[in-house]
Amino acid sequence: MSVQNESQELQKGASPFNPTQPVPVELFVGRSLEIDRIMHRGAGQVATGKPVAIFVQGEYGIGKSSVAKFTQYYAERDYSLWPIYASLAECSDLTSMAEAILKAALRTHAFDKALSGIIKEFLADYVENISLFGQITIKTDALKRDAPNLASAADLIDFLRSLYERLKLTGCKGIFLVLDEINGIADNPKFAHFLKGFIDTNAVSKKPVPLLLMLCGVEERRRKMIRNHEPVERIFDIISINTLSPEEMADFFTRAFDSVNMTVDPKAMDYLTLYSAGFPKIMHLLGDEAFWLDKDGKLDEEDTLRAVVLAADEVGRRFVNEQVFNSLKSKDYHSILAKVAKEMGPGSTSFIKSDVMSSLTESEKKKFNNFLQRMKKLKVLRSGERKGEYIFNMRMVQVYIWFQAGKTEHP
Ligand SMILES: Nc1ncnc2c1ncn2[C@@H]1O[C@H](COP(=O)(O)OP(=O)(O)OP(=O)(O)O)[C@@H](O)[C@H]1O
Ligand SMILES: [Mg+2]
Repeated sequence: MSVQNESQELQKGASPFNPTQPVPVELFVGRSLEIDRIMHRGAGQVATGKPVAIFVQGEYGIGKSSVAKFTQYYAERDYSLWPIYASLAECSDLTSMAEAILKAALRTHAFDKALSGIIKEFLADYVENISLFGQITIKTDALKRDAPNLASAADLIDFLRSLYERLKLTGCKGIFLVLDEINGIADNPKFAHFLKGFIDTNAVSKKPVPLLLMLCGVEERRRKMIRNHEPVERIFDIISINTLSPEEMADFFTRAFDSVNMTVDPKAMDYLTLYSAGFPKIMHLLGDEAFWLDKDGKLDEEDTLRAVVLAADEVGRRFVNEQVFNSLKSKDYHSILAKVAKEMGPGSTSFIKSDVMSSLTESEKKKFNNFLQRMKKLKVLRSGERKGEYIFNMRMVQVYIWFQAGKTEHP
């Protein structure tokens, strides 16, 4: 990085956008119905002693983890539920899941000495050292040794009960356990059986642990668990997360840029919301590009269109696999793709062959069938139910194509 760039970045301060992290509470927008439901039918019920299980489902990058974090924050503030947030991304069996939950329990409020004291005392066997600033070093050996003892439904309930009994002394009314990124472990049939056992064991015990269990994953994983163990279908209240409305996106961009003292002119806002197409991950990618491009604290049309061009490459690089990426970059397909994108508009995931056909030149028409076959083979497209309908399997590929078309239009 050149000295000049470095000093520019220093002047800018931190970007409020982060495409890879759940959004901070202050910038969270939309989802009001879903949040209300989780708070009232979930957190509120648990605080009165009744366990609840929720499955937050939605496509990749749509905002599941953000909903989990946001509701954990408010459930603690308003209902005194103790948050434990465990990512199971690295887990494929129940032992590694138990280990992830133990680690997550240690991390809750780790930096707040007053709050985390009880946990550290309870889990002292696993704490190697606590730094002056509250950073915990975990004894991984001890954790690995004991995790297998927690890998059954009954043992994990007992563990959570003991934890809750201690936390109760501080006014805690229940535990809010999030199991995020379940995509890997959901393949393991033992996980589905474990979940059913875990929820039933708690429900039938004399004194159930007031537990809000929240799982986050794509719908297809939930279906997979049901195939592995049919009763899983009935244990969760399902919350579906969908795309954001233009008003919600505008609210997000206004708040995010306002937090770094930047303004957004109306035309720029139109482009930001148009290209984000309701998709929170793209809002952050596009916002981030615009943040770094702008030089005068006022985001205008030109800054935004330049940001679209940069974000297009970023989307391709990050989310579109190499083989697909290379095919989409081929010169032959470029003009066809731009017309497909134009026909579809943002946010839509399908198109009708004859609609696109009518806008193609003779030489494009000749390549169009080949293009469709190749895209089908790469599993980018599949046939829909309507005649001549093609559907994008991966939203990110569709977003990428849409961005690329914008790039061609505003070079
Ligand atoms: N309600 C929201 N308001 C503003 N930004 C959001 C919102 N929800 C999600 N985001 C942002 O969108 C991106 C994706 O969100 P998140 O990680 O929560 O999605 P996810 O569905 O959990 O993704 P994955 O499938 O990768 O686990 C992040 O940059 C996050 O900050
Ligand atoms: Mg997530």
